[in-house]
Amino acid sequence: MSKTNEATSMRDLLCASLDESHVGERLSVCGWVAKRREHGEHLAFLDIRDRSGLVQAVVAGSLDVRSEYVVRVTGTVSRRPEGTVNDRLATGRVELTDCDVVVLSLAEPPPFQLDDRTEIDEQIRLRYRFLDLRREPMQHNLRLRAVVNAALRRSMDAQGFCEVETPLLWAPTPEGAREFVVPSRLHPGEFYVLPQSPQIAKQLLMVGGFDRYYQIARCLRDEDLRADRQFEFTQLDLEASFVTQEDILGFVSNAVLDAAEAVTGVRPEAIGSMTWAQALDQYGTDKPDLRFGMVLQDLSSVFAHTEVKAFSATTVKALRVPGGASFTRSRLDQLTDQAKELGAKGLAWFRIVGDGLESPLARFLSEAETRAIATLDDASEGDLVLCVADEHQLACKVLGALRVTLGSPPVSEGPHHYVWVTEFPMFEGVDEDGNLQAAHHPFTMPHLDDLELIESDPLRVRSQAYDLVLNGWELGSGSVRIHRADIQSRIFSALGISDEVAESRFGFLLGAFKYGAPPHAGFAFGIDRLSAIFAGVENIREVIAYPKTQSGADLMTGAPKGITDRQIRDLRIRVVAKGS
Ligand code: AMO
Repeated sequence: MSKTNEATSMRDLLCASLDESHVGERLSVCGWVAKRREHGEHLAFLDIRDRSGLVQAVVAGSLDVRSEYVVRVTGTVSRRPEGTVNDRLATGRVELTDCDVVVLSLAEPPPFQLDDRTEIDEQIRLRYRFLDLRREPMQHNLRLRAVVNAALRRSMDAQGFCEVETPLLWAPTPEGAREFVVPSRLHPGEFYVLPQSPQIAKQLLMVGGFDRYYQIARCLRDEDLRADRQFEFTQLDLEASFVTQEDILGFVSNAVLDAAEAVTGVRPEAIGSMTWAQALDQYGTDKPDLRFGMVLQDLSSVFAHTEVKAFSATTVKALRVPGGASFTRSRLDQLTDQAKELGAKGLAWFRIVGDGLESPLARFLSEAETRAIATLDDASEGDLVLCVADEHQLACKVLGALRVTLGSPPVSEGPHHYVWVTEFPMFEGVDEDGNLQAAHHPFTMPHLDDLELIESDPLRVRSQAYDLVLNGWELGSGSVRIHRADIQSRIFSALGISDEVAESRFGFLLGAFKYGAPPHAGFAFGIDRLSAIFAGVENIREVIAYPKTQSGADLMTGAPKGITDRQIRDLRIRVVAKGS
């Protein structure tokens, strides 16, 4: 046999590589004993598992090997006897016979079954992650993620980007989440901040002449954990000079499509785009899931002079739910509660039945209103129409959320629908001190057509910020940055950031800009999220080797935990008793 890539001094090939072409050869594999079955007194069948899969070894004589022992098995590859072929196994037509087994390591019985058929409590999986990692789904997911990373690196290199590593011990960055801080031993009472992203570092690289930068960057944010959020996560982070938004969308599209192609073997179509205003209007969200229709419809003009009080509002939005006429009253009540929780005053529903509409409100509608609802979005008998009348954004958002509740397929269901969302607003709402909040971050360039609105009507200012969305998940965000001091100071003052605060937080960036800042723009997307969608899993924990639980604990190491008195002394910090 010619030497395989996987051959080492201890083995000839991986378990799952054995097939009929090897029959008659004497070969060695190494791995864990996945299963042991006795056949009579002096014959045992061992399933040997390595990262590739399983192969069966037939062992004669008495042998003390148990589940999860680590072994090296040398045997002769033989066809399985008639009737014992296992078509569910890649190596199911062959087995190793006449085996010599060397036990390389003993193992205690594992706390859970390591086959992928058993459902295991996630707490236990995380406590024994090193065992969980032996299981096929985790092997698959982490390898898939490695394929994504490798493809992204190839793509960015091919597009002329230079990989630069930026510090983890750093100063505050402007992403807006709570930060993790690290006490300095050499500077008592002072702290490093772990970066929420390399945002400022990469902008400084542009000032430093690095033209096209990228990094597979670890980012840290002390925020509430959810299915798509961890404290530590990884971005493909990039920045480029002398570019416009279109250039960045092109670079990122190439990278994402290259990664998708590497994982699936098929290159997705070019990524389309819509503005933030369109996304809101049609899907009620800035993260539209385009795997399914149910586009929001606008009935504002139909209801402009309505007699029905519930519908007298600036906007009336409607959503057709195919087949929804069969929903029970309690299901409709649940949807109404959901709408109210999201801020709506109520939710109007109409069942489309043979001769019109069925609804407590039906008899109050004019003929034109009834017709508009009954024919909404090609409605037909058996459908349901949900309506929310309110201020525009709220009406859209409420129905957008109901659209997802009612229509969204599971993460594992394809196809993959990417979309760029552009022209985000520059500001979103105000904080408790009455200051405007930056929708992206304070270095985002406003849309040049809206510069004069910054002071007069800031909430109408569009920005040159853009998101990439995949199947309803925000994959990434970016923007063209402000490189002009005059625009930057107008944005800071609109945000209520005083000169002193700007100087103390970002002085080193603003100072650097005085030495010749090229026009630049950038983007970052979450590799955890992209890998999770490729793997078809709902939670990014499934594509992370050692994730934290919802409450931020690492069940395997016990982190976070106390440190020694000596360390506390060295750091010159004082721990205030828990709960005080
Ligand atoms: P933003 O804050 O939008 O932009 O982050 C970019 C992407 O990073 C991922 N992400 C996360 N993934 C897992 N867990 C988290 N807690 C988490 N937070 C964010 C998401 C998100 O879309 N510096 C800017 C980018 C830029 O302007 O260039 C930034 O970090 O997929």
